[in-house]
Amino acid sequence: MPQIGAVPPPVRNKRPAPPTLPAPGLMGWLDVFQNDPLGLLTRAREAGDLARFRAGPSYIHVVNHPDLIKHILLDNHRNYTKETRIIKQIKMFTGENIFTGEGDFWLGRRRLMQPAFHRQHLASFGKVVTQTLQELDQEWAAQTNRVLKIDEEMIRVTLKIVGRALFSVDLTGETRALGDAFGFATEDLFYRAQHPFYPPTQIPTRRNRRAKAVNRTVTQVMQKIIRERLAADETGAATERPDLLALLMRIKDPETGIGLTQEELEREIVTMVFAGHETTSNALTWAWYALSQNPQVEKELHNELDTVLNGRAPTTDDVPNLVYTRRVIDETLRLYPPAWAFGRETLKADALDGYAIPAKTVVIVSPYTMHRHPRFWNKPETFDPDRFLPERSDKRPRYAYLPFGGGPRLCIGQPFALTEATLLLAGLAQRYVLRLASGAIVRPKPNITLTVANGLPMTLEAR
Ligand code: HEM
Repeated sequence: MPQIGAVPPPVRNKRPAPPTLPAPGLMGWLDVFQNDPLGLLTRAREAGDLARFRAGPSYIHVVNHPDLIKHILLDNHRNYTKETRIIKQIKMFTGENIFTGEGDFWLGRRRLMQPAFHRQHLASFGKVVTQTLQELDQEWAAQTNRVLKIDEEMIRVTLKIVGRALFSVDLTGETRALGDAFGFATEDLFYRAQHPFYPPTQIPTRRNRRAKAVNRTVTQVMQKIIRERLAADETGAATERPDLLALLMRIKDPETGIGLTQEELEREIVTMVFAGHETTSNALTWAWYALSQNPQVEKELHNELDTVLNGRAPTTDDVPNLVYTRRVIDETLRLYPPAWAFGRETLKADALDGYAIPAKTVVIVSPYTMHRHPRFWNKPETFDPDRFLPERSDKRPRYAYLPFGGGPRLCIGQPFALTEATLLLAGLAQRYVLRLASGAIVRPKPNITLTVANGLPMTLEAR
């Protein structure tokens, strides 16, 4: 019995749970999460800046406010690990690497690889883009008035660029096989993360057999990359420039002095090839679609290209002057962010927006829903590159726009990707117009990146 005058024990100020979408069935929203994640994340946004839904036995939290996103990716990032189910799935295939790793391991890799992405390499990177662009231009010149699968064209060109720029290797002969393999892998990894009870890889289902074959194809190409470099090193023909492969081959364990094993090396390379082409190719694919649907924007783009380039191939020096082209890219990345959502898991419990978030809980940050948030974007569904004019961007909170993420895990390839996308779009759009093929239905398909469901058929016209 409490004594009179005694101080009562402190009452724990329990924070409430965030707004919760009422579960439509026994498994909660699992089915919708698997089949229409963009729709579900949009519903979560409508429920609040922070909201949650149940998928199977566990709750998934979704944040849709720049301040909350900043808290997770930057201010309190140490409490939010990347180690979610999808990353575990990717890890099963690629092991620990710069993209999947955490803590000291990740920091070591990031520091080591950063020099390959230094801004001073942008000029030589631009040369690779211009050279590859000219090859594509020659191919396209022979194919005008035909329908091309633009998604596949963009995959081939970005794969070639990443091979040449980061590994000094020509993947021209391999781009088709590699593109198909990665195309399957992006769908497959996402499918497995969404279907946790799918039979393990040893069971010979159709999907598992295909995954094995794809793995073999990818490994063979990675081995070719390493083999060619070792041969070049022996003959002294290796590149002078410290490209990413040279840096990776130089890694040594500080205690043992042992370098990466062949398998570790393959895994780092495959991660970089994948991260370095899949996102940029999807961005460009969506840019072509957006241009075909917005003639006024297309006209303004052509005006800029005619003034700045006047028929010559673009180089890195032109990038600062291609301001409208860049705004078209920025707007494409807003409406169709290739990394449409990424997850984190809390290590310890946290408080967000006055609500409690338990430990070991998945929190989703979705550039797709944040970039279409009506509170932060005027007419969010309209494709309007001029919203990225400096005077219109100035007051926008940094984390309302995050196609490349934020905080320490910000995309390492951002400057490369933006230079590449600007040069490719400028170089091709000054020579060609792409029209949506008749009867084509365009829908987003969120895999690991935001792809176009069933591809993007477009008719190629000379300008
Ligand atoms: C339009 C193109 C691109 C987009 C939209 C994009 C988007 C992103 C995003 C959102 C993240 C952070 C993911 C997270 O925090 O969970 C990321 C990380 C990363 N990206 Fe990109 N990316 C692009 C191009 C590239 C390129 C060209 C490369 C390499 C050549 C690259 C390599 C990476 C790597 C290695 C990471 C992991 C970085 C780390 O954790 O330290 N990306 N990217």
